[in-house]
Amino acid sequence: MNEKEKTPYVVTSKSYTAVAINAASKAGEWIKSRLGTVSELGIKYSPQDLVTEVDKGAEQMIRRLILTHFPHHAILGEEGVEPGPEASARALQEIQDEEYLWIVDPVDGTTNFVHGFPFFSVSIALAHRGEVIVGVIYDPSRDELFVAEKGKGAYVHGNRMGVSGEQELAHSLVAVGFPADPNYTLPINMAAVQALAPQVRNLRAGGSAALHLAYVAAGRLSAYTEIGLKPWDIAAGALLVAESGGTITDTVGTPYDLSVSHIVASNGKIHEALTGVLKEAKATGME
Ligand code: IPD
Ligand code: CA
Ligand code: CA
Repeated sequence: MNEKEKTPYVVTSKSYTAVAINAASKAGEWIKSRLGTVSELGIKYSPQDLVTEVDKGAEQMIRRLILTHFPHHAILGEEGVEPGPEASARALQEIQDEEYLWIVDPVDGTTNFVHGFPFFSVSIALAHRGEVIVGVIYDPSRDELFVAEKGKGAYVHGNRMGVSGEQELAHSLVAVGFPADPNYTLPINMAAVQALAPQVRNLRAGGSAALHLAYVAAGRLSAYTEIGLKPWDIAAGALLVAESGGTITDTVGTPYDLSVSHIVASNGKIHEALTGVLKEAKATGME
């Protein structure tokens, strides 16, 4: 075989964003078609940390679609990493210096998917030398596609998104999460819930970190905070929030990067007040 025959055929002329949109929407449609069909429920890090054949199948589909266009790019996908916080931190460390790194959560909100609660999403980000440059989140239940490109804004169905205008916690709708690690991260999130509930208009816990971030970007939530997330929960949504004029940091206010797992994402105006409440309640996860 000569050199030319050995080189894989690469489909050209597709932008990174077009590939991310194609992969997220194709996988999302397939996931939706599998609702109610889960036959085997796998347990990962804890009895609350679920995985199904749909999570694995969707990740395979997304990997194949990405590699068709960009065979030399690296991919960090949730289902390719051992469960637990140490393994995911290690996996990120090993791969984060790659020039182009795709970060994939094939089903964000698996528990919702399993129960038929229509709030789950596909999250795909592309980082260039550690900085997220494309973020796509697709909600198949509502057929909503959220897209952001670094420096070019964030859009839902082609309409530019902007964060909400609340200036005070008392007028804010804030999302929280209940992670699948009952020993370390759950009690810290509970402390945050306890401290925030009396100070905000109300709390929501939808069960998809990626969609919570998309909703902050779209101005439907004033903020979202959760301790103990993984790179694939946050990467795409972080760009959506930033490109919509919001703020995304860790729980002590340090700007977001791929290694951040304790996050606060907000409309910017209530950011300090929110991190202040977490600090006061010793609920930053960094005490
Ligand atoms: C989970 C969801 C959930 C959040 C958990 C995540 P998964 O992701 O985003 O909202 O509270 O911390 O692990 O496991 O459904 O991909
Ligand atoms: Ca997730
Ligand atoms: Ca997932």
